[in-house]
Amino acid sequence: MFQNQTALVTGAGQGIGFAIARQLARQGAAVLLNDSDVELVRTAAETIRQEGGRCLALPGDASDVSFIRKMVAVAVQEFGGLTLLVANAGITIFGDFFEYSPDDFQKVMDLNLRGSFFLTQEAARHMREQKTGGSVLLMSSVVGHQAHPGLAAYSMTKAALEMLAKNLVLDLSPHGITINAIAPGATQTERTLDDPNYIPVWSKITPMGRPATVDDIANAALFLLSPASRHITGQSLIVDGGWTSVSPPPF
Ligand SMILES: NC(=O)c1ccc[n+]([C@@H]2O[C@H](COP(=O)([O-])OP(=O)(O)OC[C@H]3O[C@@H](n4cnc5c(N)ncnc54)[C@H](O)[C@@H]3O)[C@@H](O)[C@H]2O)c1
Repeated sequence: MFQNQTALVTGAGQGIGFAIARQLARQGAAVLLNDSDVELVRTAAETIRQEGGRCLALPGDASDVSFIRKMVAVAVQEFGGLTLLVANAGITIFGDFFEYSPDDFQKVMDLNLRGSFFLTQEAARHMREQKTGGSVLLMSSVVGHQAHPGLAAYSMTKAALEMLAKNLVLDLSPHGITINAIAPGATQTERTLDDPNYIPVWSKITPMGRPATVDDIANAALFLLSPASRHITGQSLIVDGGWTSVSPPPF
């Protein structure tokens, strides 16, 4: 499905980003994996290569605009172009609203918003130059739709990313570039393994009876990156096992 496609996936050392990168590589795309954790991203790329995938690891900070430009340049230089972008890297910093610090607020804004915005800008500049079209996927969350305790700052960024996807149809459609967002619900990752209550609690409050796996999210991502969705743009797809239809908090 993705032969002749070249992809850049940020925050791809583990979790959802890794699952998307791996599935893209399994289906023939050449993938540049980024993560701020050097060891993690090198190991992730090695795993994909051992499965026969074509990929490279590029460690670095996906909120740094000069590094963002480098990531796109490396993809173009190493793979001959860039047709798919997954701006997946995002951080969650929980905190009581009354105590939330400017420092934590800035960290969340820098990666989730500034990083995603300028990465989309740089990738789209190249896609426009290439005249091949392309697909951009932004990583939102169900908390961009529903209130969740302790996540005011993070939720703002996710709602904003969905508006970014909607707004950019004006700029990107003339160049054959689609842009969409995925809003995952609770998803089991390496990060959630430490919490013994995560699976039981989310299984109880999710209509489909379990939290998402990273492959549930990657399956939806691959659809939105594939030729099958060429006429879908500016949309957000919630993948949450039905949670936002009822939205009980996890305690
Ligand atoms: N897991 C969930 O339940 C869930 C739900 C909704 C949305 N999301 C979103 O999905 C995306 C991926 O989430 P996840 O749970 O797989 O995350 P994760 O924490 O498991 O993995 C994210 C990766 O991003 C990397 N990273 C952190 N800061 C970075 C930076 N500045 N530059 C580059 N890489 C950086 C981390 O090292 C990590 O490997 C995020 O945008 C997150 O907000 C996750």
